[in-house]
Amino acid sequence: MSTNSITITQPDDWHLHLRDGEALKAVAPFTAKQFARAIIMPNLNPPVTTVIRAVEYLDEILAAVDGSDFEPLMTLYLTDNTSPQEIIAARKSCFIKALKLYPAGATTNSDAGVSDLKKCTKTLEEMQKSALPLLIHGEATGSQVDIFDREKVFIDKTLIPLTQQFPDLKIVFEHITTKDAADFVQQSGNNIAATITPQHLLFNRNALFQGGLNPHHYCLPVLKRNSHQQALLNIIRSGSHKFFLGTDSAPHARHKKESACGCAGIFSAHAAIEIYTSIFEQQNALDKLEAFASFNGPDFYGLPRNSKTVTLIKKSWQIPDEYDLGPDKIVPFLAGQTINWSLASTNDT
Ligand code: DOR
Ligand code: ZN
Repeated sequence: MSTNSITITQPDDWHLHLRDGEALKAVAPFTAKQFARAIIMPNLNPPVTTVIRAVEYLDEILAAVDGSDFEPLMTLYLTDNTSPQEIIAARKSCFIKALKLYPAGATTNSDAGVSDLKKCTKTLEEMQKSALPLLIHGEATGSQVDIFDREKVFIDKTLIPLTQQFPDLKIVFEHITTKDAADFVQQSGNNIAATITPQHLLFNRNALFQGGLNPHHYCLPVLKRNSHQQALLNIIRSGSHKFFLGTDSAPHARHKKESACGCAGIFSAHAAIEIYTSIFEQQNALDKLEAFASFNGPDFYGLPRNSKTVTLIKKSWQIPDEYDLGPDKIVPFLAGQTINWSLASTNDT
């Protein structure tokens, strides 16, 4: 049976990089036209580490999506020095929904990240008490760890001890890439969930080298081998409520990607819901799309599900080769390729 149209509750993006300045103005409207809300990553330079700074950033985002109903869900960047008082202030603010853990050195703008979680004990205790989720970039750092093993090593060395020490802490294991991570989340309690990106569902590490070195498929955590990709596809077909949509859309200008030392990050916000819809269709799992995109995330965060709906129709269109990114250009995920789903409308119910 083929489906030509699908209407679902409006989705949210539970992991998004919007940047600031000109880049923010260029990319934010793409997200606002599809998603009702998004969890906004705090890895600006300098990072968003305080409630006061988060208010300023929130205002800048709202100005960039002027006239839309889009609701940014703000996060703070956890450092060795984040105080328990900052957590209390975050909880009271109501608009800060989580803290982000970047192990120092793991990825873009992570230098100010946590050097040793032991330094955060009191802060994590307060988060557990406040039910403020910890969003984790789950990769072990250190030059001796093989880049393809970073997620597994992180689970064994950091995540398992963390969950033993804080059994009720709400955790989102962000952008999971391995069967190890999928299994860990499946076997954990309901306080632990995960996001899955479109690139980790569509591709494995072969895509990095197809026809030559392809910087536009480079992100962190890096794509893994096919068996891990298959494990993630199994998860979305299973319809487990512990996994939800998080694009990790992470814009970098073309010249920063196509460079001798290219930046990590894939920009997918231009067609995120269409790409996920194509993936679920390929997997014969269109009936699982709505929970993944629109229910599991708000249910985990304790937020209401959206009341609007979006309709996608089976209509092919070609993704442009590039978009403007302020004074620069950006190459979108799947540039130049044809995609067979189009976002048709957003409706009040
Ligand atoms: O590929 C990535 N890009 N992974 C991250 O964790 C950060 C992101 C970015 O901010 O560019
Ligand atoms: Zn990210």
